[in-house]
Amino acid sequence: MSNSNVEKCPNEKIPEYAFIGRSNVGKSSLINMLTDRKSLAKTSGRPGKTQLINHFKINENWFLVDLPGYGYARVSKKDKKTFQKYITNYFEQRTQLVCSFVLVDIRHEPQKIDMEFMEWMGENGIPFCIIFTKADKLKPAVIENKVDTYVKTMVQGVWEEAPRYFITSSSKKMGRDALLQFIDEINTDFFKEKK
Ligand code: GTP
Ligand code: MG
Repeated sequence: MSNSNVEKCPNEKIPEYAFIGRSNVGKSSLINMLTDRKSLAKTSGRPGKTQLINHFKINENWFLVDLPGYGYARVSKKDKKTFQKYITNYFEQRTQLVCSFVLVDIRHEPQKIDMEFMEWMGENGIPFCIIFTKADKLKPAVIENKVDTYVKTMVQGVWEEAPRYFITSSSKKMGRDALLQFIDEINTDFFKEKK
């Protein structure tokens, strides 16, 4: 299901996981990698591809949610505002949202827009993990260094401890098992508590 109004999103009370981050960071590609489908979520080399809140139901009992990216310079100021509003509405109102993934490109230094977004999530008590994307673009020896620096910057800033993180590459299927296992553990707890 796709729409731009959080009130019209599916109302089933099953766990959902949202993917958010800058445009072009690889949110939709990661959903395809996790689900082992080539084009379940629409991807593009040009930023701004995903424009709606997209719910993908998995195994009939949980959702992966693909969201539009933030920080896409080519949308008009007015569009940006409405867009940000429905995204923040989504995060504030979805009680079935058990964990969100904030995607950042592993090649980049910490960016202000991502830091601000994560701070906003922290202030609003919205649980999240970081997903480093496009790890195939770096030499394996550099990966750990990059991630260490990123996490250190967070801890030296406003964060008492670094969030949990995953290192991924959608083209190389890297990080898939770890992420699916993490989701599975949360789902298992969720359904245990419900019984
Ligand atoms: P928006 O919907 O515009 O916000 O973008 P998105 O975050 O959903 O990004 P999308 O998945 O559409 O991918 C953007 C571009 O990055 C595409 O050209 C993808 O092929 C490429 N890409 C995504 N993941 C990876 C990856 O792990 N490795 C490499 N090398 N390229 C990737
Ligand atoms: Mg997308």
